[in-house]
Amino acid sequence: MTMPELSVDELRLREAEPRDVPQLVNLRNGAREWFFDPGEVTLEGTLAWLGRSQAAGELNWVVESDGEVIGTISALPSERGVEVGRMIVAPAQQGQGVMKRALRMVVAFLAHRFPGPIFLEVRPDNPKARSVYEDVGFTVTRVRMEWHDPTV
Ligand SMILES: CC(C)(COP(=O)(O)OP(=O)(O)OC[C@H]1O[C@@H](n2cnc3c(N)ncnc32)[C@H](O)[C@@H]1OP(=O)(O)O)[C@@H](O)C(=O)NCCC(=O)NCCS
Repeated sequence: MTMPELSVDELRLREAEPRDVPQLVNLRNGAREWFFDPGEVTLEGTLAWLGRSQAAGELNWVVESDGEVIGTISALPSERGVEVGRMIVAPAQQGQGVMKRALRMVVAFLAHRFPGPIFLEVRPDNPKARSVYEDVGFTVTRVRMEWHDPTV
């Protein structure tokens, strides 16, 4: 899949490349607590992951402002539709509308390219992310529950 560059205002979304791996690692390790898989990632692991992800047809963008990588967002096409994920904005740039603008552009692009639903998963205790997704037009369709042993 060819990934077009997307841009709005001062933001530029371009395909993530191996040179972006250090920033991707920082973004991800700084936001671990919000992901279903909260493990720490490494440079080597992330480089290998990026290659596998691209080979599998996943779309990984970095969000740049003034030539600096300040965020990331991915899209994972499958037979179930397209899952949008791995959305992170660097702490210093949060709360300035970066992800709202980035996600709107990505969704508009995906809606023209892929059939089926565009969906994402988010933790219920992540009000900031939920407010972004609701503002862009996502609504809750499923609730996932996990069993935790009440005796430990
Ligand atoms: C979630 C995240 C990507 C949002 O990016 P962002 O660029 O800061 O988001 P925006 O600035 O576009 O919008 C943030 C919105 O959340 C709102 N918000 C902030 N704190 C909030 C809170 N505690 N409760 C509810 N809404 C909140 C803001 O008011 C803003 O909405 P507004 O523009 O209507 O005022 C970013 O906070 C992040 O990287 N978080 C850590 C990783 C993460 O949680 N990723 C999502 C995993 S599903």
